Amino acid sequence: MKKIIAANWKNNGSKKFVKDFFDYFLDNVDTKNEIIFFPPDLYIDQVNNYRNKEIFSLGGQNLNTNPFFKTTVTGANSCDMFLDNNCSHILIGHSEVRAQYNDTLIFSEQLKHVNGKLKVIFCIGEEELDRENNSTSEKLSELLDTLVKNFKITHIPVFVAYEPVWAIGSGKTPTLEDISYIHRFIKNKILEKLPSLKEKDIMVLYGGSVNLKNAKDILNTPYVDGVLIGGASLDVKEFTNICNLKI
Ligand code: PGA
Repeated sequence: MKKIIAANWKNNGSKKFVKDFFDYFLDNVDTKNEIIFFPPDLYIDQVNNYRNKEIFSLGGQNLNTNPFFKTTVTGANSCDMFLDNNCSHILIGHSEVRAQYNDTLIFSEQLKHVNGKLKVIFCIGEEELDRENNSTSEKLSELLDTLVKNFKITHIPVFVAYEPVWAIGSGKTPTLEDISYIHRFIKNKILEKLPSLKEKDIMVLYGGSVNLKNAKDILNTPYVDGVLIGGASLDVKEFTNICNLKI
């Protein structure tokens, strides 16, 4: 079954890294899975130059971060700029961005203003403390409310990345049962709030310490439509092998 395999490079890379990565990747990737790269903004154009075979799509890691979105913002990029650079996706609310803005207002604004042509991957996840306090579902519901309140028809399919904050970059992952349970919870919650949607309109990716050892099991877990990979996506051999997995 076709799955989404997304690479979040965060603030890693260089021109040489991009060249070496794609020289290997394009020679060795062999998959029907849908692959999306989220390079740092400064390298999007360079990565785009390797898209000749349309083997992968491109996305931006973050949108304009001014809550008063329409004003000019030094250091920010607009939706149109991402589109102009052939991006089809945008991450909104990654936990590393959430940590800088202790307020969901910013993500409501981003969702409101995102250009309908960019597909949003809305990132949610509980902190370690939420998990310890058994309040994971409350935390996820709160974050999902931002999504459903600002939902637009252009957001179909709805992409959510479930990324437990305690699992990001830590080498720890939830059990497969927990991943499945939470993905189902997310899908049901969205369907409950947006009853006009169908289950097939909602794609939930798992993110947090995905690597070659655990990717196949995670991708085979019920209700998992794909993965969002940070650290392991920087190792071209490991990432290529994950992309080539037959699920
Ligand atoms: P990780 O990062 O795979 O390094 O845990 C995932 C993410 O932050 O999207």
